[in-house]
Amino acid sequence: MMDNMAIVDICHQHGITFVIIGNDAPLANGVVDALMAEGIDVFGPTQAAARIESSKVFMKDMCAQANVPTGQYQFFTNSGDAVTHVRRHGAPLVIKADGLTMGKGVTPCATVNEAIEAIRQTMDLRTYGPGGTSVIIEEFLEGEELSFFAILDGTGCIVPLTAAQDHKRAYDGDIGPNTGGMGAYSPVPWFTAAHQQEVLAHIVIPIDAALRANNAPFCGFLYVGLMKTPSGFRVIEFNARFGDPEAQCILPRLTSDLLPLLWLAAKGQLAKASAPNFSPESCITVTMATKGYPGQVENGSHVGGISAAASLPGSLVFHAATCLTPEGIYTAHGGRVLNITGLGPTLDDAHYTAYQAVAKIDWPEGFYRHDIGHRAHNLEYSSPPTGSHAPRHSR
Ligand code: AMP
Ligand code: GLY
Repeated sequence: MMDNMAIVDICHQHGITFVIIGNDAPLANGVVDALMAEGIDVFGPTQAAARIESSKVFMKDMCAQANVPTGQYQFFTNSGDAVTHVRRHGAPLVIKADGLTMGKGVTPCATVNEAIEAIRQTMDLRTYGPGGTSVIIEEFLEGEELSFFAILDGTGCIVPLTAAQDHKRAYDGDIGPNTGGMGAYSPVPWFTAAHQQEVLAHIVIPIDAALRANNAPFCGFLYVGLMKTPSGFRVIEFNARFGDPEAQCILPRLTSDLLPLLWLAAKGQLAKASAPNFSPESCITVTMATKGYPGQVENGSHVGGISAAASLPGSLVFHAATCLTPEGIYTAHGGRVLNITGLGPTLDDAHYTAYQAVAKIDWPEGFYRHDIGHRAHNLEYSSPPTGSHAPRHSR
């Protein structure tokens, strides 16, 4: 996946003329540039534009240029200097690896000692990989998190999609280490049309313009990671791709065709596209991961019950890290293995279906959170379920 010329060769061999790139690492590795150089159409940002995700320092520079609201920060290439800053500044704060870390290189720290340990893990021990060579230390922001998505074509045309709320912490009750995401739901009841306009006007449109002004026009899904603080929305991250597991709870709600949007964006002609349509139905996606994730995990355990889970009305099972062998389906290549989505008229219905489907999975080596969607209920969402079943809220 990281050999750009091998991907180009596969396209030539199979007559592939249009490619959609979904993953952060190949984007940061310039696969889009390699394909475009061969005349192959691509939906996804170039290496230069993908720095909005692959370098937190570049992201912060773009935010400063575009006047996009984000947390205050300092940048460090030396762990001693980072520790000195933490001792002087005090807690809480957030230690973030500058480069890519598969969603694991961000450590919110309540105390100075936690922050010093996070610097040691990130910079000295490189626990999260080479992305931890440098760090930013960011102010701790409090509020509700939200992932908002838009499609950009690099010419200034922007098509807003919708929002989802991810659950980044590993365990129930939003505790434990940060992960790539343990489940998500969409729509997010408190995120109004006015909020969407605000995010577009003050964040998406200016960042798109800043990227174009810096010779890094962005074509692709722009993922805007937001915190709704008491003083307004702040960007906590941009990603140069769709979210995982946000995509699995947003795309089932899309009732119009996705492909024309991506194709026209790749051509720089997004202005010709019709606006996407989303069903008012709700989706909840529950991520199932191997026990031990986000730490190192063993691959190779058997996962049963997938057909039974997928055949429940309103459920969808997305494979993330599985392989099919003559003996059945086994885990492979990573921690997050399945995403199970429930779709229904309300979040309660979606929740019921998703967890009914999860209960069909026979995988003793796996774990999942039982409370996906709980923040929607703790906030403003209170309508009763429409189905004949009672809602289930495992907390
Ligand atoms: P990121 O990879 O930057 O999205 O960070 C992962 C998670 O860390 C986010 O989803 C937040 O839950 C948390 N986080 C990141 N930045 C901050 C911040 N400045 N203040 C509080 N929490 C943060
Ligand atoms: N769910 C967070 C991400 O895709 O980065």
